[in-house]
Amino acid sequence: MNRDDPRTTDIDPSFVFDYDPVQGPAEGQSFTTYWDVERLCRGPEPVPDWVVTDRGALDTDLGVLKTGKEADVSLLRREATDGSGAAVVMAAKRYRSEEHRSFHRSTDYTEGRRTRRSRDARALSKKSAHGRSLAAGQWAYAEWDALNRYWAVGVPVPYPVQIDGTEILMELITVGDEVAPRLAQARPGADLLEEYWLQLREALRLLSSQGMVHGDLSAYNVLAAGEHLVIIDLPQVVDIVANPRGMDFLLRDCTNICGWFTSRGLDVDPQELFAELVSYAV
Ligand SMILES: Nc1ncnc2c1ncn2[C@@H]1O[C@H](COP(=O)(O)OP(=O)(O)O)[C@@H](O)[C@H]1O
Ligand SMILES: [Mg+2]
Repeated sequence: MNRDDPRTTDIDPSFVFDYDPVQGPAEGQSFTTYWDVERLCRGPEPVPDWVVTDRGALDTDLGVLKTGKEADVSLLRREATDGSGAAVVMAAKRYRSEEHRSFHRSTDYTEGRRTRRSRDARALSKKSAHGRSLAAGQWAYAEWDALNRYWAVGVPVPYPVQIDGTEILMELITVGDEVAPRLAQARPGADLLEEYWLQLREALRLLSSQGMVHGDLSAYNVLAAGEHLVIIDLPQVVDIVANPRGMDFLLRDCTNICGWFTSRGLDVDPQELFAELVSYAV
């Protein structure tokens, strides 16, 4: 506003405001979808304060971080346009439909799970196009559900921000300015190794007391975030009791993860861990 302009000088200043024209999405950007998805497709309360909830926020895809067997993980920046300056980079895990995957999960994992709609159950078993896209969405939804439940009971998992079809946006686990390495790439000293073990055992006890097994636990699906471990990659969580192979998955998880600690010089016993976790599960 130009206060010397004769057209504005007589106007009560409280009726006059400067405004920036609304910033639309630039090339490669799109508006946030946070409020477009249903309530249960947004993460649990309390929503951490780093989550950008501005309705006019803009998303920018920063490219692929890791290409996996059945999903890609990209970096997505979400930036408020309300003048608050809030911005966050999240992990966007996008499941591919089955024809674009190099890996097919065995149906062993899904036994004991029910598909409520019989039309969907038929489509899944016939592997129709509808069935294939449903399957990608179901793995995404299974991981979303697990992240929500575990986050709520205090298992160290990334905070789930939202799910939209086959895409999950979640907290990006970092160390300083870098994306956290997988445990498999970490070289902790003896004290930190022991601390990691105690944290992991505690997390697995919590998982077991929820009646669940990770189902694909290894040093590749645990991130080393400085002093803390974070468990990721949870689409295949298995019910220890309802799934007929629940105990097998639990023993395999224990063997895989204890193997890594033992190879780094901490003598831990998979059978002992297994027995302990079974006692938490029942
Ligand atoms: N929330 C996250 N924060 C940081 N890195 C992540 C996150 N989620 C996934 N990653 C990275 O992407 C890789 C693949 O993700 P993951 O969930 O394990 O999928 P996949 O089924 O492809 O193994 C992980 O090994 C890890 O390096
Ligand atoms: Mg993985």
